[in-house]
Amino acid sequence: MNRYLPLVIVSLAILSFATLLLVIIPGMQIAKSGASPGLKPYTVAEARGRAVYVSMGCLYCHSQQPRDEAQAPDGERGWGRASVSGDYAYDTPHQLGTMRTGPDLMNIGDRLPSQGWQLTHLYQPRAIASWSIMPAYPYLFAHKAKADPGDVVVKLPPAYAPKTGVIVAKQDALDLVSYLQGMKHDYAPPTDGLRDDGYELMAAQQHNNDAAKASK
Ligand code: HEC
Repeated sequence: MNRYLPLVIVSLAILSFATLLLVIIPGMQIAKSGASPGLKPYTVAEARGRAVYVSMGCLYCHSQQPRDEAQAPDGERGWGRASVSGDYAYDTPHQLGTMRTGPDLMNIGDRLPSQGWQLTHLYQPRAIASWSIMPAYPYLFAHKAKADPGDVVVKLPPAYAPKTGVIVAKQDALDLVSYLQGMKHDYAPPTDGLRDDGYELMAAQQHNNDAAKASK
């Protein structure tokens, strides 16, 4: 094996082509598209809550990318419209996720806006749904003999409530819930929104083929 040069040239060519296609061109397309006009920047509490979301690894079970109806019935599931790149303009690092062990959370603020519901669910998902396999996050809460002024007390069914005292939300839990409540991407997407419409093109082609056949 002594013909290194062709090997190096071919390898570099393949690597450069892949980098161009998967990194440089998408990067240029996204840089042009900017934030969706309806998207609000995060408030301070939401931004802190987002950091908690990232650090807790919620991403390992929850996606933030409702898909087009041609790809998945996410709209019927109530997860919202298909997202576009501009919906993530303020997200670094983004939390798109690939696993859907739990529901997509891109529009959880529309679906379940109640702070009380979210706090109970984070403290103990089984207090809401006995079959839930989501982990509990008890360390985001404190057990106190009695609530101080300003404390947000978590409502719990008797099976999960402490024998004495109350469970109150720590700042991290309150911030995380602010973030979840703010997850509303229900505004109309920009018409030039960047998204993968490969499936739509395929569906349109199929439609045309069917129409051509029918007219024969
Ligand atoms: C091991 C997987 C797993 C992890 C990690 C996880 N979840 Fe879940 N989550 C689930 C499952 C399964 C459900 C559906 C059952 C339920 O509602 O508890 C769910 C449901 C939810 C719901 C209700 C969604 C709806 O539409 O009903 C919210 C909100 C939520 N999770 C937030 C979070 C947050 C915030 C974190 C991180 C702190 C997190 N989850 C971490 C699995 C997970």
